[in-house]
Amino acid sequence: MTSASPVALAWGFGGSAMQMEGSWNIDGKGPSVFDHAYLNHSAHPTHGTPFRAADHYVHYKEDLAFLGEYGATAYRFSFSWPRILPDCTGNVNQKAIDYYNNYIDEIIKNGAEPFATMFHWDLPQACQDKFNGLQNPTAFVDAFTEYSQVLLSAFGSKVTYWLTLNEPRANCDFCMHRPQFAPFTTTTDDLYYKCMHASLLAHGNVVQKARAMPGGSKWKFGLPNIMEWHDPDPGYTDATADESSSTLRQAEWYFDPCFFGDYGPGIKAVHPQIPSFTAAESNLMNGSCDFIAVNIYSSFTNGLPSLPIGETEAYALQEVDDYQYHYDMPYWPHPRPEGIRLLPQWLAKRYNKEVVITELGYHVPRSLETSFTQAVNDDLRTQFWTLAGPQLLAAINEDKTPLTAVLAWSLLDNYEFYTYEFRWGHVAVDYWDPNDKTKVNLDTGSLKREAKGSLKWMS
Ligand code: NOJ
Repeated sequence: MTSASPVALAWGFGGSAMQMEGSWNIDGKGPSVFDHAYLNHSAHPTHGTPFRAADHYVHYKEDLAFLGEYGATAYRFSFSWPRILPDCTGNVNQKAIDYYNNYIDEIIKNGAEPFATMFHWDLPQACQDKFNGLQNPTAFVDAFTEYSQVLLSAFGSKVTYWLTLNEPRANCDFCMHRPQFAPFTTTTDDLYYKCMHASLLAHGNVVQKARAMPGGSKWKFGLPNIMEWHDPDPGYTDATADESSSTLRQAEWYFDPCFFGDYGPGIKAVHPQIPSFTAAESNLMNGSCDFIAVNIYSSFTNGLPSLPIGETEAYALQEVDDYQYHYDMPYWPHPRPEGIRLLPQWLAKRYNKEVVITELGYHVPRSLETSFTQAVNDDLRTQFWTLAGPQLLAAINEDKTPLTAVLAWSLLDNYEFYTYEFRWGHVAVDYWDPNDKTKVNLDTGSLKREAKGSLKWMS
């Protein structure tokens, strides 16, 4: 580890099944809503499908070996719900159970603590067909609870840290409300609030049942949410702010239910349509998170975007029309680095709990990285960590923020919900055309793996 590298109890990387595994119909896996969407629509000509992804299902041993080789001590992955329960509920696919048992053993063998996400947006298409997925809150909560019981029984002896649903806000918004990602269901605002509410209740229900299971007291549960650090501008007041410009409002919506049993008063005033918890639900939610799991990508002075590294932001603004297909927002600006220090500190004080940064990272878009060699050199991401590392160190050493783990997103270059063009990996995956290493070719790329400069910098 270089002197500027982060020192936390644990550090490592993250990934998710649908974004990395591929093998979408192998060994009994059923289609996810993403597979289904691309079986029925053609992919954007310059982007791609999740069918092969980073082929991690096949290469997992080689990929997880990077953890051991570079000294990572934690790794976040997700189970594929449609691999485990291809019919949505009922029929458990034993091959998937065997696969993930081996997978977890491999993480541990490489010296890393597994952080297991139960649901990272790849809903089984069977759940969508049977009951309309997240549009049907009650049925979703029941199905998710059943699925969680399968996971806890099968893997609970090896996994301590559980992340229930990844970023419900983004899942409900991107996959249903806007919608830009599969299953592309357009919903009313009302259903968007209900989707968030159902996700929170699903989390609470899973944790309550889990704690009553044999051995349940050793498990620790978190609900990873994406949050931004917002610095107030002069004259700014939280009284009128909504979640797009206020750290407090975001916390009130996504974390207050977990730690205090109800949405915060400010967010209820801004969004009166948010459903209420009954007294029983409030009890269920209260204390359902054992730690604060937060994904951090952006920091703002209110209203003003943060400074980009290189030309990323200019790129996003220029290219935004190109991405109208499924993703109509300019990609995240680079975090103003101090937010990486300030947000965990603020959260730990508000909730008096340890913090796990479940995602933190930087994407390099294609205009700034035009060859495999450049991807492996990885100068921009290394610059990012050169800025982020000292902030994490200050959080731990100066502020004494209880940071349990920092998980960089992502281990591998992977599938970003419709595209391979934004590269998040600390290990390069060779998607490039063998005859022209300046062009991505998803069919003929060798998918060879190579450690990037940023990974070497971190170790
Ligand atoms: C949030 C999501 O959890 C993850 O799946 C995604 O790849 C990263 N952010 C980067 O966009």
